[in-house]
Amino acid sequence: MIPLARPVLGEPEQRALLEVLRSGQLSLGPRGPQFERAFAARLGARYGSAVSSGTAGLHLALRAVDVTDGAEVITTPFSFVASANVAVYERARPVFVDIDPLTLNFDVDAVAAAVTPRTAALLPVHVFGYPVDMRRLERIGVPIVEDACEALGGTYADGGAIGARGHPSVFAFYANKQMTTGEGGMVLTGDAVIKERMDSERNQGRSPNMDWLDHDRLGFNYRLSDLACALGLAQLERLDTLLAGRERVAALYRETLGELEGVTLPCENSGQARRGWFVYVIQLPHGVDRDSVVTALGGTHGVAAKPYFPAIHLMSYYREEFGYREGQFPVCEDVAARSIAIPFFPQMTEAQVARVGEALRAVLAAARRAAGPLASRA
Ligand SMILES: Cc1ncc(COP(=O)(O)O)c(C=O)c1O
Repeated sequence: MIPLARPVLGEPEQRALLEVLRSGQLSLGPRGPQFERAFAARLGARYGSAVSSGTAGLHLALRAVDVTDGAEVITTPFSFVASANVAVYERARPVFVDIDPLTLNFDVDAVAAAVTPRTAALLPVHVFGYPVDMRRLERIGVPIVEDACEALGGTYADGGAIGARGHPSVFAFYANKQMTTGEGGMVLTGDAVIKERMDSERNQGRSPNMDWLDHDRLGFNYRLSDLACALGLAQLERLDTLLAGRERVAALYRETLGELEGVTLPCENSGQARRGWFVYVIQLPHGVDRDSVVTALGGTHGVAAKPYFPAIHLMSYYREEFGYREGQFPVCEDVAARSIAIPFFPQMTEAQVARVGEALRAVLAAARRAAGPLASRA
């Protein structure tokens, strides 16, 4: 089976982990600040705060821009569920808007139209690593928290690194990401006060000078261990190679899948706006049964695939809790019903990409035959 994702781990990671094990200091040691400084420097940001996951980082970042009970947070329904859940953690309401059919990011005009006096934050997600048009978003004049969990290595339309604009910007390091710490995340920010608040709140609300058991605010345990930070430092050393590997595989896919009738590939970069490659998600033609395509790819052809992303507003929790329903965000619903992620990792060989292409061609031909003449080829 060609898996969906596979981390690149080797001797440097083993050495880094062993050093921490031998030191005996497995958490709250020197690797945390080292990893924060190195990651922030790599992207050209002022401060980094290492946290236990991307979700934890988004939660702390929303609190840091003062999202509280009853506030509204405008975000996208086409994302991993965490980007909406974090607003709910603070008893705020996630307000969804529809997406742009080309970039699959939220539609900035729809965001502007959704602002109310209760809007406390905008939460753009750089979906599948493609940058949101931040200059237009910033003109709305509401605090922003960026979900850059999928976007490491990407650049904005002005050529700057995604995450280094000064707003709290959150990265994630689960094992399928561009680089991994097993589980983990990092929030970049240009604001020392926000950094100080997040550092305290990830550590039970402890005061910054770490006075033992002096908790001057509510906090969480969202710390990232020294073992994880050491892994992060080792991965950061090889990040250029990891990103180049993903670029290479994406280019191979574009060549191989470009001819597949009715299949929509990830949008091309536009000007200096560049995708930080994370996953390879394609949209199947209308009229094709997506679930049977996924089953046939995995079962008959040994190619892992999964529906990605399901629309958040149609998940049962969101329907029940907030009353969302079908038809509210038609572009998102259409794309979400036809999207699948296919295998994508830096070490993929040309032969593996070709095998995925052949499998897709065969499965789609069979699915079209099954759907009959009504299956749209558009
Ligand atoms: C867009 C997006 N936001 C948030 C997250 C949450 O990150 P984590 O799984 O590290 O909590 C992810 C992770 O996949 C993601 O893709």
